[in-house]
Amino acid sequence: MMQFALKMGLLVCFSIMVLTLYHEAFIYNGGITSSSFVIKQSKPIDMPLSSDVFSHPPGYNAPQQVHITQGDHVGRAVIVSWVTQDEPGSSSVVYWTDTNPQKHKATGKLTTYKYYNYTSGFIHHCIIKNLKFNTKYHYEVGIEMGHTTRRFWFMTPPAVGPDVPYTFGIMGDLGQTYDSNVTLTRYEMNPVKGQAVLFVGDLSYADHYTFHDNSRWDSWGRFVERCTAYQPWIWTAGNHELDYKPSIGETKPFKPFIHRYQVPFWASGSTEPLWYSIKRASAYVIVLSSWLISSYIHSMYTPQYQWLHEEFPKVNRGETPWLIVLMHSPWYSSNHDHFMEGESMRVIFEPWFVKYKVDLVFAGHVHAYERSERISNVAHNIVNGECSPVSDQFAPVYITIGDGGNIEGLANKMREPQPKYSAYREASFGHATLEIKNRTHAYYSWHRNADGYAARADSVMFFNRYWYPKDDSTTKSKRRW
Ligand SMILES: *[C@@H]1O[C@H](CO)[C@@H](O)[C@H](O)[C@H]1NC(C)=O
Ligand SMILES: *[C@@H]1O[C@H](CO)[C@@H](O)[C@H](O)[C@H]1NC(C)=O
Ligand SMILES: *[C@@H]1O[C@H](CO)[C@@H](O)[C@H](O)[C@H]1NC(C)=O
Ligand SMILES: [Fe+2]
Repeated sequence: MMQFALKMGLLVCFSIMVLTLYHEAFIYNGGITSSSFVIKQSKPIDMPLSSDVFSHPPGYNAPQQVHITQGDHVGRAVIVSWVTQDEPGSSSVVYWTDTNPQKHKATGKLTTYKYYNYTSGFIHHCIIKNLKFNTKYHYEVGIEMGHTTRRFWFMTPPAVGPDVPYTFGIMGDLGQTYDSNVTLTRYEMNPVKGQAVLFVGDLSYADHYTFHDNSRWDSWGRFVERCTAYQPWIWTAGNHELDYKPSIGETKPFKPFIHRYQVPFWASGSTEPLWYSIKRASAYVIVLSSWLISSYIHSMYTPQYQWLHEEFPKVNRGETPWLIVLMHSPWYSSNHDHFMEGESMRVIFEPWFVKYKVDLVFAGHVHAYERSERISNVAHNIVNGECSPVSDQFAPVYITIGDGGNIEGLANKMREPQPKYSAYREASFGHATLEIKNRTHAYYSWHRNADGYAARADSVMFFNRYWYPKDDSTTKSKRRW
């Protein structure tokens, strides 16, 4: 079924690609920022298992791979997850605030899974609820007599509201190479202090190893713990989370990912952890899956379609002005890599993105950086073959940020000429930040790994599409085309 669906998908993509190639030949390349920045590019190398970043916390049954994510729809709950290796131990979390040392306790759940000949450690997920907004909480895991406990802390977000400033970090396709470590360090050291991470998919790249060696899922969890234990990462599933390998009997897509990374999908009425939404401060974040469990083709009959159909009308821009969508496979990318792979999804969903005035769409998958102008291609359909995107002030800006530094290396073959919709593109590792100032303005920057900590390689002041739909394009002429 999956194989068949994949073939059909490629067929559809291919026919659209032929049309697009034809059209692109007529696109004039003018007024576009194309970075001339070139760095010495060597293929990323995975950090060996003996690396400092992968070290096991000392002590009997010490919790490891600690990570947190939002645990409800508005930010008053947190899901704390961790792994113990020696024995199950406790799934409870003890927590308290900075100002009141009275301790509270929440009880979580334990899960394990097998993948080919790998057996996972004891994976714990514990939701702590009814937290106060804008409050520093300390928490402790591993609370079992004779076991090792570990303490961390996090800040809850401010209450949801239209002018609440909030800063997101954005990363994708991270992996566990020396470059991945630089990306994470750059994010941590960035003077623009990100308060939560929007992660656009492709976490560990464990599937790069023979039999998808799942111990590389564990090492990745230990590597990112220094950030994920202290601030929520909002997870999107990528193709490297599929871990679909029938030849070794692994036919349940997303098995390791779903066991390890819980998300609050139930809080937004979703039936699957692969698509869901959260509100955080002044942002409404919708997470979508580019890959479906039963099919690679997006159609009007998938549960994700049904859910999103009901979801968009629920967004109240008076409460959360900033409407942000995360997905793995970009809809607009002028890179040769994975060119037009997002087409079947774009064709189905793009009209809603324009109708509901989505501000920003972040995707990964392509291992490079690219930012589009506000464009849409809703006029395109297979019947009339009109597939050159046009400037559209009600459309989102599309950002590809799959440049986290994974083992597969940079996607440095761009399609020429640079299409007019592409405002900035560059094959370098990095991360982005989005500083929401109020309901009208959000300052966005892409930070290249090769630069100093405070450098902004690409910056834009985005104007909100609902409250202040002024032209915020950055290409020279700012003309409609
Ligand atoms: C799984 O099988 C492979 C190949 O037979 C072997 O190299 C590896 O050590 C095994 N892993 C475990 C956890 O048994
Ligand atoms: C990873 O980055 C951290 C922080 O910069 C550093 O302390 C550590 O030594 C690095 N490890 C490797 C293997 O690069
Ligand atoms: C919103 O933020 C922008 C950028 O910081 C600022 O210029 C503008 O005055 C703010 N608007 C209001 C109403 O405060
Ligand atoms: Fe990917």
